[in-house]
Amino acid sequence: QLKSCLQTDLTDMDILGIETSCDETAAAVVSDSGNRLRPWIVRSNVVASQADIHREWGGVVPEIASRQHVRDICCVVERAISDSGANWSDLKAIAVTQGPGLVGSLLVGVSFAKSLAWSLGIPLVSVNHLTGHIESLVIEGGLMPLPAVVLVVSGGHTNLYLVTLGENEQSNYQLIGRTRDDAAGEAYDKVATLLGLGYPGGPVIDRLAKKGNDQAVPFPFARMTHDDRNAGPVVDQPVGLAATRRSRLLEFSFSGLKTAVKRYVQQRNREVDSGSGLSSGEVADICASFQRVVVSSLLDRTFRAARQYGARSVGIAGGVSANSRLRVDATARANQEELPLFLPSLALATDNAAMIGAVGLKRYHAGLTASLDLNAQASLAM
Ligand code: KG4
Ligand code: ZN
Repeated sequence: QLKSCLQTDLTDMDILGIETSCDETAAAVVSDSGNRLRPWIVRSNVVASQADIHREWGGVVPEIASRQHVRDICCVVERAISDSGANWSDLKAIAVTQGPGLVGSLLVGVSFAKSLAWSLGIPLVSVNHLTGHIESLVIEGGLMPLPAVVLVVSGGHTNLYLVTLGENEQSNYQLIGRTRDDAAGEAYDKVATLLGLGYPGGPVIDRLAKKGNDQAVPFPFARMTHDDRNAGPVVDQPVGLAATRRSRLLEFSFSGLKTAVKRYVQQRNREVDSGSGLSSGEVADICASFQRVVVSSLLDRTFRAARQYGARSVGIAGGVSANSRLRVDATARANQEELPLFLPSLALATDNAAMIGAVGLKRYHAGLTASLDLNAQASLAM
């Protein structure tokens, strides 16, 4: 499946972005707009999704993903160039996702980008995938008033960042909250698997939940009453008891909810007539009830963080930001709190290379180019 969307109105070409961190092979051509408030123009944005291939395994199989990237990358990059109307000689630099992600998948993009930069004699720029998701908000929405609180919520991450202006016009991204266990997208995918709904779970649960009663099953909300004993050194630890309690209130947890759904489904399967399974109405109720808990947990913490840090805007990015209920409820909360809300269009919510090109341009202008020794890093820090 090759998705492609492009904008017309061609001026000078700039950067080619390449993204292969998980199961989407993506390439895009992005240019400077000359407008400081809305700095980038997406010339082309091509995504080859492997979802159909991984569906039969119920999730992404890393080895299959990297092999499929090898098959797809040439044609995806060629399509991005031809859609944009650019020639190879128009490109000023190549931007590529260095991490975080699946290392085999990342290596395909990184090796391809290095070879291309070397053969065209132009600079290479490395980009952090999560920075890409955050800056995807600026591509369409324009610069966010800072400080901003941004939730990056996908299959691999549920992280809250405080975005401020750093040196050289570069943004600072401070991790202020994250999940203790599963990412929200991972919870969607696992719940979909146990309901027999296939992979990826987010879009199908989103669709079925619209027909269900979100109060039908009282699934539990995670309560963070104790410190996370497994916490790594990533979250900037505040000092003092009150501050520790405040930072705990910005943490997420979805594995208890997933287990509650699993127990409930097992129990209902025992109760209903053997062989007939759960009715479609009951499955819709479970989806809606599960989704109500996920969405409220995400928004409670995001808007609490916004108040706590005096944010002037709020953003939600990453695959789960495509969720229709999350978008509606986030818009209502932002209106209530009188804060501007930034959400990506559906094309930029899930993994894409336009966001990698955009961050690549920003880094290129700041002189932050990479050497041809660049290596993929599965758990690259911001
Ligand atoms: O950002 P992304 O494309 O890849 C990662 O970096 O993980 O996010 C993929 C995740 C999957 O877990 C998928 O189920 C979830 O985003 N997702 C959604 C929706 N569309 C995709 N979750 C909830 N509702 C959706 N509509
Ligand atoms: Zn992503």
